[in-house]
Amino acid sequence: MTISLDYTNMMAPPINGAITPSEWDNAVSAFSAAHGAVDAQHRAGTLGFLDLPRNQVLHQQSLEFVTSLRARGSYPTDVVVLGIGGSALGPIALRTALKAPQWNLLDDAARRGEPRLHVLDNVDPANISALLGRLDLSRSLFVVTSKSGGTAETMAQYLIIRARLADALGDDEGRKHLVFVTDPEKGALRAIARADGVTALDIPANVGGRFSVLTPVGLLPAALAGMDTAALLAGAADMQARCESSTLSENIAGVFAALQFLADTVHGRHIQVLMPYSDALRDMADWFVQLWAESLGKHRTPGDTGVGPTPMGALGATDQHSKVQLFMEGPGDKTVTFISVNEGGVDVEIPSLHKDIPELAYLGGHRLSELLDIERRATAGALARRGRPNMTLSLDRVDAWHLGGLFMFLELATAYAGHMYGVDAFNQPGVELGKQFTYAMLGRNDADEARKEWNLLPQSDPSRVL
Ligand code: PA5
Repeated sequence: MTISLDYTNMMAPPINGAITPSEWDNAVSAFSAAHGAVDAQHRAGTLGFLDLPRNQVLHQQSLEFVTSLRARGSYPTDVVVLGIGGSALGPIALRTALKAPQWNLLDDAARRGEPRLHVLDNVDPANISALLGRLDLSRSLFVVTSKSGGTAETMAQYLIIRARLADALGDDEGRKHLVFVTDPEKGALRAIARADGVTALDIPANVGGRFSVLTPVGLLPAALAGMDTAALLAGAADMQARCESSTLSENIAGVFAALQFLADTVHGRHIQVLMPYSDALRDMADWFVQLWAESLGKHRTPGDTGVGPTPMGALGATDQHSKVQLFMEGPGDKTVTFISVNEGGVDVEIPSLHKDIPELAYLGGHRLSELLDIERRATAGALARRGRPNMTLSLDRVDAWHLGGLFMFLELATAYAGHMYGVDAFNQPGVELGKQFTYAMLGRNDADEARKEWNLLPQSDPSRVL
């Protein structure tokens, strides 16, 4: 079982205009400093995500909750996560990677008693209404996930669900169909849990939303849906052990962070694409995009122009017929990180039909996994040929162990990159003003200052509206 990174095509040579040996030599000390800083933060108790792989007490919270549901004899057919950002993207990535394709469309027999897993990560009324229209509330469990316990979107969803449950089942019974995942002490959700006796699992105070997938944010939905949470944590622990060294060449997450940092800041490769060649990993790309964007895109000092790479997701081979044209011939401002999977599990052989038609004949006898892998290698080679830097992360297979390792790899890389950029990777001050304006317009009592600021904004100019 392993995860490896081949970064040959990020370097010059072979790629003209890519990272030079002397730039890479300089990155050694920059990385060592970043590693030391992450270590110091961890020892100071602020980087709780690094404690999660060994936190069996927290792991048990999710397992015990699942056991208690089974003991009650009321195991749900549908689990619905209500959450947004870091409270949603991890569960979505887990479902896509570790459950069978089209999981929510399988019938009860095919799901072998495991529930469908829905994640509502927006407040678009069409989607919520459609799901509520289909669910049997008496056989559904709603996992309300919010670290702060007060995010407007998640709280709006919660209010709708709480009222629907009370209407359908009565408030006492309805509450049994709720479980909260939130801060152990703070926030409205924790207060409601205490007041109303709703079970609430913990997101440790020192773990931020986008670093929380290995808390009950990800572990509870995973355990409810029958995923191997112990293997997830074991894979993460293995990756963490591989990243103990402050020597760049020995630290796989450090190498990824340093390559992306140099590519962005020295070579103008500001856009960083993550492109799995695996449908199971397609939502990992979205999870990474949030992690990289919200952690690294920010001001170093108040009022400066801001730093940070722009992450982008893509899917192979699908996006070879979409974004790859841009990657090949558009501005040379990108890196592409492919993810390959060595053993795909199920495979399908392509039948040898139409032997007299050259456009089809060469396909016969090959397997789909072979076609997918060859297309990845061909795309990487084509990019290299055009001087476009790229690297390849290889996973032996898509399972809980490798997924845990991948989460930890990208989280650690983000923490290191934060220090290289000179930003705090663990805050998100840039989203605050928009939230305050939302509160102001919705009439929240404590939003007077934001309301004044909102009212000073320029009004829409009718001459500029078509
Ligand atoms: O990474 C983050 O901190 C954010 O993306 C949060 O996850 C998101 O804003 C949701 O916040 P909360 O979990 O507090 O509802």
